[in-house]
Amino acid sequence: MTGALVGLDVGTTGAKAVAISPSDGAVIARAECSYGLATPQPGWSEQEPEDWWRASEQALAALGVEPAGIGLSGQMHGLVVLDASDRVLRPAILWNDQRTAAECAEIEERIGFSRLIELTGNRALTGFTAPKLLWLRHNEPDVYGQIASILLPKDYVRLRLLGERAIDVADASGTLLFDVAGRRWSEEMLAALEVPGEWLPPVFESPDVPGAPGAGDQAAAALGVGVDREGPASVVLGTSGVVFAALPAFAADAQGRVHAFCHAVPGGWHAMGVMLSAAGALRWLRDALGTPDGFEILTAEAARWSPTVEGLVFLPYLAGERTPHADPSARAAFAGLSLRHDRGALVRAVLEGVAYGLRDSLELLAELGVRAEVGRVSGGGARSDLWLRIVASVLGLPLERTAVEEGSAYGAALLAGVAAGVFVDVHEAVERCVRVRETIEPVPEWSRAYEEGFRRFRALYPALRPLEAT
Ligand code: XUL
Repeated sequence: MTGALVGLDVGTTGAKAVAISPSDGAVIARAECSYGLATPQPGWSEQEPEDWWRASEQALAALGVEPAGIGLSGQMHGLVVLDASDRVLRPAILWNDQRTAAECAEIEERIGFSRLIELTGNRALTGFTAPKLLWLRHNEPDVYGQIASILLPKDYVRLRLLGERAIDVADASGTLLFDVAGRRWSEEMLAALEVPGEWLPPVFESPDVPGAPGAGDQAAAALGVGVDREGPASVVLGTSGVVFAALPAFAADAQGRVHAFCHAVPGGWHAMGVMLSAAGALRWLRDALGTPDGFEILTAEAARWSPTVEGLVFLPYLAGERTPHADPSARAAFAGLSLRHDRGALVRAVLEGVAYGLRDSLELLAELGVRAEVGRVSGGGARSDLWLRIVASVLGLPLERTAVEEGSAYGAALLAGVAAGVFVDVHEAVERCVRVRETIEPVPEWSRAYEEGFRRFRALYPALRPLEAT
């Protein structure tokens, strides 16, 4: 086995590819190719599958290696609808799209809340795939009538790359059509929602998907930072913000406040809380400020402010929120602005608001019995030392940076190594390749200040809720 192992992540902002050495997992090459996101109506979020494919092809070509195997990872939940000739029928509806509130209510009503949790491990959330299908049935019957198959984002890229239709259990978990405990499509859900089973691709354990192994980006990111079993939590500061813990056995929250999904480790499960705007909130602020300055300049200005920014609090619900509120109508806010607050203060409040949102998820995971003593970070936001110190202090957890920072793409490359027989299994891949490079400890004085900040943050959402536009 001499060729490189390649991981491709079809993300929200672009396709990221990484080539690693099969002997020790060191990165040989990396490439990234970005694409846009359309919001044709408030709360909508769409992308063109063709853009994913073009960017994926370019990123893979830019690696300049002859792969010994390719692993795929991608943004979860997005609905790609294809006709009988595999033509894309409309833009994909993404994980952070909020148009399906009525369909979620319909699903929970039709099936019953606790039965839904029994069948799928999860409640109906606007970003999940099944409510989007119902939305199409109600709102775009012409499109719906032509559907011959559906795929998730990275599996659409798989179809273009290999001509194969397949999905892994980790990504399938986020469709709400999947029996997460049983690791198979749920006949009962399909029947209850009147969705033809023939539309769905065959499902496999992550390393066993024929042609190219794969996983939803969160399970892949967890592998990429070495969260293959109980122990450290995976903390992701990507467009979305995630706290993810591998579970010793299947466990669902009876209220569905955190997701219970299959892990990319065969026979394993995980729980996670997902915020819709994490590094995405910082990107939004930079764009809204209309500045050419990069994130380093902005966070350097934020570092001049002390924790809790003299009472300025940011609620990061720019795209509604999933964990902990499951509220598509939630919106973001700055509260406590004063004349003294400048651009750096706004940036710091965003960094802190996202950290508080992650703490909400960590506390819900603790209610499921998760006892992580350390977090492992990935995602673009994890490049900021300041942000990691803030998150560590708010969570009260040391955060570890691994030698390779491409969480999801790296996890996908490790899966490629398992499929190619380089590693016996996922655990060996992690053991041989994932190294902790650095630990960011909580700052005790900051942690004390953030206790009060978190209290104020928690009070803000219920206070603003009556002002939500519905
Ligand atoms: C996970 C989720 C997001 C996307 C982002 O449930 O919706 O983290 O996967 O890529």
